[in-house]
Amino acid sequence: MTRREVECSAPVNIALIKYWGKRDENLILPLNSSLSITLDQEELCTTNYVYTDTAISQDSLTINGLPHSLDTPRYLSCLQTLRQLSGRHERVWIESTNNFPTAAGLASSAAGFACLVYSLAQLFQLDCELSAIARRGSGSACRSMYGGFVEWKRGVLSNGEDSIAYQVFSEDYWPELQVLILVVSDQKKSVSSSHGMQRSVKTSPLINTRAESIVPERIQLIKTAISERNFESLAKLTMMDSNQFHAICMDTLPPLFYLNEVSHKIINMVHRYNEQCSEVRLGYTFDAGPNACLLVQKQHVKQVLAIIHYLFPTSNEDKFVIGKSNSVSPTDLPAFVSSLGVTPHKDGIKYVIHTAIGTGPKLLKKNL
Ligand code: DP6
Repeated sequence: MTRREVECSAPVNIALIKYWGKRDENLILPLNSSLSITLDQEELCTTNYVYTDTAISQDSLTINGLPHSLDTPRYLSCLQTLRQLSGRHERVWIESTNNFPTAAGLASSAAGFACLVYSLAQLFQLDCELSAIARRGSGSACRSMYGGFVEWKRGVLSNGEDSIAYQVFSEDYWPELQVLILVVSDQKKSVSSSHGMQRSVKTSPLINTRAESIVPERIQLIKTAISERNFESLAKLTMMDSNQFHAICMDTLPPLFYLNEVSHKIINMVHRYNEQCSEVRLGYTFDAGPNACLLVQKQHVKQVLAIIHYLFPTSNEDKFVIGKSNSVSPTDLPAFVSSLGVTPHKDGIKYVIHTAIGTGPKLLKKNL
């Protein structure tokens, strides 16, 4: 048998309305719906080269060149479901690479599982709804199965069949909306999302109120904000939801501290900047770690980068900004920077990735 092979890529996504807490650990069913933006694969993606031939006697996975076990419930669930649905049982070889530093503490599992499920579905020529399969790898991975603005519907069925993601608006809907990822730390997080949310479900009295009474309305409001391309409303809802997620982390026993001193400085900077501008020009959101993801419109990117560079002076001048911008100009610095009330913090930010909204998984090559 000749080698059959595919190469595919899948994106990272950032939740604006967060998923935190499961109602079923095994099926990975969330307490609440969530909504994310898919980031441009130009800056952040996982690429998989997957092949099969008669010489392969067992499944194997490498991530960035290093061997990785497939013998975990999450991988096994994805592989078994894909095999059952396609009726294909040949063994596969998977080489997975990230185009961004894995050590940067950026959500690589969402892109990783989305890419695994998409590339195997291509190899097995399986044409069906795939987000529910990716969800079994990692909850947030189901949202990486689509581009643009994506909602993961909580669903109501106990078998999880209706807990799927779908595209709310396409990647072209709001091209002025840009994203700056401020990499604060490249340390591995102290408590993983999976363990952290388990602890919150067990101990936080606030988590159910959030899931039942706050998120449903917030999802409606943010969809309206996106449909109207209303930046102020989008940024405010995103910041409130990030803060509420971290409030639940604090309401957890023992508490989960994902933000650090630099994250708090970034939060202050964003609010002071918006005050100085007398309009909302920046929004932030933080996942289970100290790195910030800022929302900004294209016309303000240069000014914001100049402010970040001023408040977080760097020893990494050459590569401080990567992606759609790769330099910072002091001439873009506004006169009011000194009245932002934030004390400069040397090397608080390691580097900044300038990206935008992008497409869902892509088939790059196939030979079947
Ligand atoms: C804070 O999807 O990593 O990033 O389902 O256990 O794999 P598991 O968790 P994961 O959790 C992501 C949590 C979050 C918020 C979000 O992406 O919605």
